[in-house]
Amino acid sequence: MAKETLTVTDNRTGKNYELPITDGTIRALDLREIKTGAEDFGLLSYDPAYLNTASCRSSITFIDGDKGILRYRGYDVAELAEKSSYLEVAYLILYGELPTKPQIEEFSSEITVHTFLHENARRFIDGFRYDAHPMGVLIATVAALSTFYPEAKEIKDEKQRRQQVVRLMAKMPTIAAWSYRHARGFPLVYPDNHLSSPANLLSMMKRMAESRYQPNPTIERALDVLFILHADHEQNCSTSAVRTVGSSLVDPYSAVAAAAAALYGPLHGGANEAVLRMLMHIGSVKNVPAFIKEVKDGGGQRLMGFGHRVYKNYDPRARVIKKLADEVFQVTGKSPLLDIALELEKIALSDEYFIKRKLYPNVDFYSGLIYQAIGFPLDMFPVLFAIPRTAGWLAQWEEMLRDPEQKIARPRQIYTGHDERKYVPVEQRKA
Ligand code: CMC
Repeated sequence: MAKETLTVTDNRTGKNYELPITDGTIRALDLREIKTGAEDFGLLSYDPAYLNTASCRSSITFIDGDKGILRYRGYDVAELAEKSSYLEVAYLILYGELPTKPQIEEFSSEITVHTFLHENARRFIDGFRYDAHPMGVLIATVAALSTFYPEAKEIKDEKQRRQQVVRLMAKMPTIAAWSYRHARGFPLVYPDNHLSSPANLLSMMKRMAESRYQPNPTIERALDVLFILHADHEQNCSTSAVRTVGSSLVDPYSAVAAAAAALYGPLHGGANEAVLRMLMHIGSVKNVPAFIKEVKDGGGQRLMGFGHRVYKNYDPRARVIKKLADEVFQVTGKSPLLDIALELEKIALSDEYFIKRKLYPNVDFYSGLIYQAIGFPLDMFPVLFAIPRTAGWLAQWEEMLRDPEQKIARPRQIYTGHDERKYVPVEQRKA
């Protein structure tokens, strides 16, 4: 049988090294043995943006980008989207197994009773400028929650960790809805614990004078399915952020606030908004061929919602979302932008440029159309992404804390600055 090792020859010294291969990886630390002499620090691996570095072992989410597979704890995401609920999937992601009936009842009831925010947190939100971006409000308020729950610092205490997980899962929709209401100048709506979790979010966002808000069941279900599809996506930018920040053993509110800040960026949670802006810019189906030509000519224009670092096939989430969009449009009426999106997809999927580069629709291509049809403004899109991703962030945070191999995250660098220099008094410095 072939040996599970890698033999490396260091041509500087002529020495050979045999490095063990485990799970298709070598350990970067093994490279440190490769030295030119006793004074040499040893070889480092250089991998900006972690293009080819596994930073952890994880049993939460599996992605096969070439085949277009996404599984949470072994379950196919499309099957979960069809048969499960977001709370059930959150439980699965957090605790490893689908819940039994008593387990989901207990979990739902725990989440339900923790949806309220401390009144001072409400006043904190009130303090933001009248037009504050809801994502900025969300990030700041999540971080502020650490001051309400100082016991959250006891991250080595399993019971405390579970308590903060429940609080964060429960309060995230309330913060999200209130960040939206604040920016619109609407009075804040308190959680209605008689509603399902997606219905409660819709109620907190949309309720006006009615005594109880009852969402359309198709919209309620669509939101739940979108949340299932966004619940985790292994080691992306925001998940790496929660693990990195959490590795300093800070409380989970601070670590999740850091993850939400990472999600805020346009290359991550902001892409669905960019898709809508692109569709509005194209304006009409007849302009699609000219737009595709512009993209292919490489004038800096990209087909937003297409392509993915990991998926080199149709993103399995996009497939579910496309079908979901049809169901939502039957209730809300068709988005005028849908025909443009469909035409873009049709042309792109049969065009040599996109085929050669394996560019397919990703999760963001159709999700923004649904959010817009439900009546959410563009600046709420990353906030709506952050709510379900909280389950993934917390599961990854917990897994990181339990992993005996993990330590405080601390990458190395290749220093490119000056050698040692002598201090020059200010009057002797040259411009
Ligand atoms: N439109 C046109 N060309 C593209 C696109 C696109 N959307 N994406 C990649 N390419 C081309 C790119 O120009 C390059 O061509 P060439 O080899 O001739 O230089 C080739 O495909 C490879 O691109 P890359 O930039 O090296 O690929 P990447 O893995 O670094 O980028 C990506 C992945 C998602 C940033 C990129 O595909 C992109 O910018 N897509 C549009 C933005 C988008 O939809 N983002 C949402 C990602 S999914 C949500 C999430 O995970 O947060």
